[in-house]
Amino acid sequence: MTATDTIDLKAHIRGIPDFPKPGILFYDISTLLRHGAAWRAAVSRLAAAIGPHKPDVLAGIESRGFLVAAPLALELGLGFVMLRKPRKLPGLTIGLNYALEYGTDRIEMQADAIAKGQRVVLLDDLLATGGTMAAGISLLRQAGAEVPCAAALIELTFLGGRSRLDVPFESLVARA
Ligand code: PRP
Ligand code: MG
Repeated sequence: MTATDTIDLKAHIRGIPDFPKPGILFYDISTLLRHGAAWRAAVSRLAAAIGPHKPDVLAGIESRGFLVAAPLALELGLGFVMLRKPRKLPGLTIGLNYALEYGTDRIEMQADAIAKGQRVVLLDDLLATGGTMAAGISLLRQAGAEVPCAAALIELTFLGGRSRLDVPFESLVARA
């Protein structure tokens, strides 16, 4: 057992009430990112969870998903593809609109980012309704990827987002 094995990640993620609007409890990863050993433990544990799915490359969803995907790519010795908000990426892109509680959103990626059949694990910081992750998985498939798994640091289990995903889903911290 190493020092990082005993770290309680839950204790490093604070809930901030009424953000961004009244009635919402916002799970803030800033405190986890600020703590070197806890962040190290989070990256190691996610690497252990997704490694068995044998990714060829990782993908992360802008913006907080980048914070998770980039160090994991380094940890696993893999490359990392950005799924971005609209009109941010240069060159030929493909995109997908998806529904939010109120309105729609869109994510895009570079059309040549994935070679056909590559195994791409998709990462974000948090799974809430699952709409963002489900859209990301669809977009990666549109680009030719095989998606063996998706993962996030935090999962809001009461929103049932996992049930919207048709791939295995890994998370480190569940909030009910
Ligand atoms: C948050 C979070 C996830 C998404 C989860 O991102 O980082 O990406 O919402 O919600 P869902 O499961 O209901 O789709 P946000 O849009 O707040 O943007 P950010 O990552 O740029 O802060
Ligand atoms: Mg996000």
